[in-house]
Amino acid sequence: MLSEALMVSAPGKVILHGEHAVVHGKVALAVALNLRTFLRLQPHNGGKVGLNLPNIGIKQTWDVASLQRLDTSFLEQGDVTVITPEQMEKLKEVAGVREDCADHTHLAVLAFLYLYLSICRKQRWTEEDLELINKWAFQGERVIHGSPSGVDNAVSTWGGALRYQQGKISSLKRPPALKILLTNTKIPRSTKTLVASVRSRLLKFPGIVAPLLTSIDAISVECERVLGEMAAAPGPEHYLVLEELIDMNQHHLNALGVGHASLDRLCQVARAHGLHSKLTGAGGGGCGITLLRPDLEGPEVEATKQELTRDGFDCWETSIGAPGVSVHSAASVDAAVRQALDGL
Ligand code: PMV
Repeated sequence: MLSEALMVSAPGKVILHGEHAVVHGKVALAVALNLRTFLRLQPHNGGKVGLNLPNIGIKQTWDVASLQRLDTSFLEQGDVTVITPEQMEKLKEVAGVREDCADHTHLAVLAFLYLYLSICRKQRWTEEDLELINKWAFQGERVIHGSPSGVDNAVSTWGGALRYQQGKISSLKRPPALKILLTNTKIPRSTKTLVASVRSRLLKFPGIVAPLLTSIDAISVECERVLGEMAAAPGPEHYLVLEELIDMNQHHLNALGVGHASLDRLCQVARAHGLHSKLTGAGGGGCGITLLRPDLEGPEVEATKQELTRDGFDCWETSIGAPGVSVHSAASVDAAVRQALDGL
């Protein structure tokens, strides 16, 4: 049992290049952002476990004793195991989620219960623990979107900037401190559906879609090379190449069918301010990234943000290469974060 409150934080992440292609064995580059999600674990005397996810409107409580009485023996297999459809059904029963409910809030509750019932908590994490967190996060991803590549959980666990291909991860040495604008179009989409639609387009037009995936792979490799060069001496020419790669990849992603009018709008607004954007992640709405060159003046960035906000989007200016999932004592966390959590 916990004796005092404990904070855990995890970085936001974006895929710079290689989304979708990574599902088909190609290279992806993913980075952790200096925008973090905080979780406070608080001890309770009442024998209850509560889950409060204010951003998606979840506040639910379970009786620990009754959870323990349930037949969840399938979760007690020591190491991480792949969740089967039968186990998923069992979890739904435990969570009180109806058979046909598969929206993101219900899936978040299921992922929480799955992890809660399976993992014992620790206050300091070793390399081995991080490996385990990464494996569990991957299984959480499977609950949420079926057949993930593994890139999202890897970058959230390890942080920094990663090259990912078929489960093989390598960290980019000294990635440059790139600044980006992260824009949330607020258009909901299902990663599972979008991944499936790319797969069926690949099956339907292999001669057209396979070269697109190969080209996206080459974009990731070229981006990695440029980021490597920038570690020594970043120059304006490097930013020009990064911008060209962003534009080419955005066109490829549109050809894969994972674009959206809201993402086109983001690219259009950015372009009007001399900036370059692409979707990040599954597409079909969701988030996009815009590269912020170091020569940009503050007012230009502000004007871009204002225009995007007027279109109904949310924007955050941030930088890449943040630490991965971390555990903190409550006292060591920023006062603003503590206040926000107190206000929940
Ligand atoms: O949108 P997200 O954060 O779920 O990212 C999905 C990235 C994909 O490449 C489309 C899928 C995957 O599992 O890698």
